[in-house]
Amino acid sequence: MSRAPDARLRTVMEALVRHLHAFAREVRLTEPEFELGIDFLNRIGQATHDAHNEGILFSDALGFSTLVCLLNNGQNGATETASALLGPFWRQNSPATDNGGSIVRSATPGPALFADCRVVDPKGNPLAGVEVDVWQASPVGLYENQDSTQADMNLRGKFTTDADGRFWFRSVKPAGYPVPTNGPVGTLLEAQGRHPYRPAHLHFLCSKPDFKTLITQVFVDDDQHLESDVVFGVTRQLVGDFRPGAGVPPAADIDGPWYQLDYTFVLEPGLSTLPTPPIR
Ligand code: BEZ
Ligand code: FE
Repeated sequence: MSRAPDARLRTVMEALVRHLHAFAREVRLTEPEFELGIDFLNRIGQATHDAHNEGILFSDALGFSTLVCLLNNGQNGATETASALLGPFWRQNSPATDNGGSIVRSATPGPALFADCRVVDPKGNPLAGVEVDVWQASPVGLYENQDSTQADMNLRGKFTTDADGRFWFRSVKPAGYPVPTNGPVGTLLEAQGRHPYRPAHLHFLCSKPDFKTLITQVFVDDDQHLESDVVFGVTRQLVGDFRPGAGVPPAADIDGPWYQLDYTFVLEPGLSTLPTPPIR
């Protein structure tokens, strides 16, 4: 290790090897278990393709993605909105959508949702021109790229905040869904006796030059799995207030229950970077 010119690589690899060896000693790892572990890692790779990232899912199910997220965000008196893991389903190039527009791009079940959101700086000043990428699963339990019956980019859209820092859109109230269980991570969850559900949520990625990119999720307050999210993503601040709509519905086609979500995101000054998309 001492000959590696990259000091950070030396630090990371030295600690990784130390902890990996300590782990094997602590559990007295047997040779069949070692083989099973290597086979598991290989199967994670084999299950990964352009439209699915089993590696991220594995990290998510171990709570590791959330740990890395919390270590890198919201520390040292930070005032930004809490972050939550990116997850395996963010796609680049979601369709630019005008404020007030709908991200429902093909027939999708579920009550209508009207989201009215703001993005502000730590002093509460509105931030105009923030790009906000929004994505969510259909209430059938699948993201559009997992489900050929949904239109391409269904329930995905990119908004820009107006002069008051506002962005607003129509969607459907999200429902909880199971993470994909047809790969090795599903086998592991089953062996651990864990349920595969994520509580209902919307994903948000807010970016603006000279502000730290915020990747987060807002959770539906009445979901039964808020306290047992399979990927450990829920923090109290991120539980939204999904109010049942009252009075005249905001759109003529609504003939059942509908919901209203108001949420304010706080961005801190900092570096604007985008993550590498886990899928295409
Ligand atoms: C998601 O919220 O999209 C997600 C996060 C982790 C694992 C699977 C899905
Ligand atoms: Fe999700």
